[in-house]
Amino acid sequence: MMEEKLDLISKCIRTFPDFPTKGIPFKDIFPILKDPKALTAVMDLFEEHVRNSYPQLDLIVGLDARGFLFGPLLAQRLGVGFAPIRKKGKLPGPTLSVAYSLEYAQAEAEMQEDAVSEGQKILIIDDLLATGGTLCAACELIRQQKAEVLGCLVLVELKDLHGSDKLKPTPVFSLIQY
Ligand code: PRP
Ligand code: MG
Repeated sequence: MMEEKLDLISKCIRTFPDFPTKGIPFKDIFPILKDPKALTAVMDLFEEHVRNSYPQLDLIVGLDARGFLFGPLLAQRLGVGFAPIRKKGKLPGPTLSVAYSLEYAQAEAEMQEDAVSEGQKILIIDDLLATGGTLCAACELIRQQKAEVLGCLVLVELKDLHGSDKLKPTPVFSLIQY
């Protein structure tokens, strides 16, 4: 059953060479959203993992932009809230920010100061783990607010870039690995 779901999901992930710059094999996850069965499979597998491993979960935090595609769906299934981490300059009110570098760019991640509360137990979700720079910045933002990062969830993990090593000791759960 699980193998069937993973197969359905992996068939919906396309690779575009040299995007957005030369040498980057871009993983396009959007076809998953065109296939309701594949999207359901993604949510089923995430939900099962979280229910089994993190019954104490308080909140899902998703990353701008592609983490927003899956985070609120998962939060709703689990009956917890969702909060966003956005790229710089998009969130009103008092914010915290952390600069980071990713596979092909520099960026700054921002979160509203009241997005998470002290002591909350949080899972972070994104579409893809490459170098881990983005998820590391997200972990730092959450810890600055004295909340606890239980782990990270991603659809796709690019193993050669060793992002999960960078995130240690925070555990990473990925559905598909390349
Ligand atoms: C991509 C991807 C991850 C991040 C992974 O986001 O969606 O968030 O890169 O890279 P890293 O592990 O090396 O940090 P990107 O900011 O390129 O675009 P998006 O706004 O479409 O999510
Ligand atoms: Mg992203």
